[in-house]
Amino acid sequence: MKALVTGASRGLGLGICAVMARRGDEVFAACRKTTPELSALGVRVVEGIDIGEVAATERLRSAIGKEAIDVVVCNAGINVSYTFGSIDKLDLDAVLEELRVNTVGSARTVQAVLPNLASGSKVILITTSGGTLGRNPLRGGSYGYRMSKSGINTFGFLLATELRPRGIAVRMISPGPVNTDMLRDLAAVGVPTAIPASQSPSIYAAGQTVLGQIDELTLEASGSWIDQTGKAWA
Ligand SMILES: NC(=O)c1ccc[n+]([C@@H]2O[C@H](COP(=O)([O-])OP(=O)(O)OC[C@H]3O[C@@H](n4cnc5c(N)ncnc54)[C@H](OP(=O)(O)O)[C@@H]3O)[C@@H](O)[C@H]2O)c1
Repeated sequence: MKALVTGASRGLGLGICAVMARRGDEVFAACRKTTPELSALGVRVVEGIDIGEVAATERLRSAIGKEAIDVVVCNAGINVSYTFGSIDKLDLDAVLEELRVNTVGSARTVQAVLPNLASGSKVILITTSGGTLGRNPLRGGSYGYRMSKSGINTFGFLLATELRPRGIAVRMISPGPVNTDMLRDLAAVGVPTAIPASQSPSIYAAGQTVLGQIDELTLEASGSWIDQTGKAWA
């Protein structure tokens, strides 16, 4: 299998690249700047990919060329509008940044590799349960992050509808709590998390779970939104 993973420098993206590399998949690991952990995997590291920037499209295209891509994992993301459910204190610039990177950046990634996808290819959008309306949120707050993930979910439903006739499946995956900088940073500024980072799955365990959920995806299940247990949510 040949894959493209964004946000591969650290966290869940690094974990997904590691488990793919371990089983012999070919991986284009897109990142802004590589890390020793990523460089050590022996995957094809593509640096200079800031998915919030227009230039990312041409950079990805020139790195991948005409090679067929079986799986694209839109994983890169940020969570910076930490405000505790208080609209009056909401930093709207932070909200805009989350929409730019998380939502538009995922759409940009898909747009960039669309010519490389064919019947049987899969598009994976990494989302979060807090971005759904169907699941009762654990708490208020994180407006921008959750709005941006709602946008990803809507993007995924639309994309699944458009790409189904071409045989390309789309799945939104919420990885649940993972022991990454993102979760640790939230705790550091006092945002309550469902599980402390230290008790959450490692990036490698979570990467393995996500890879299993990619492998089992069929065209019939395209457009589905699942959590780390495989449970589907509206
Ligand atoms: N950790 C959790 O508990 C959790 C739960 C639910 C969903 N998620 C989702 O899982 C995904 C990965 O999160 P994580 O926990 O691994 O976060 P993380 O540890 O903070 O890592 C974020 C990754 O995204 C990259 N990134 C950030 N902004 C970028 C940009 N503008 N362009 C390209 N890459 C960018 C980072 O690259 P740099 O190294 O260059 O900054 C890094 O590789 C995110 O979509 C997140 O929303 C995580």
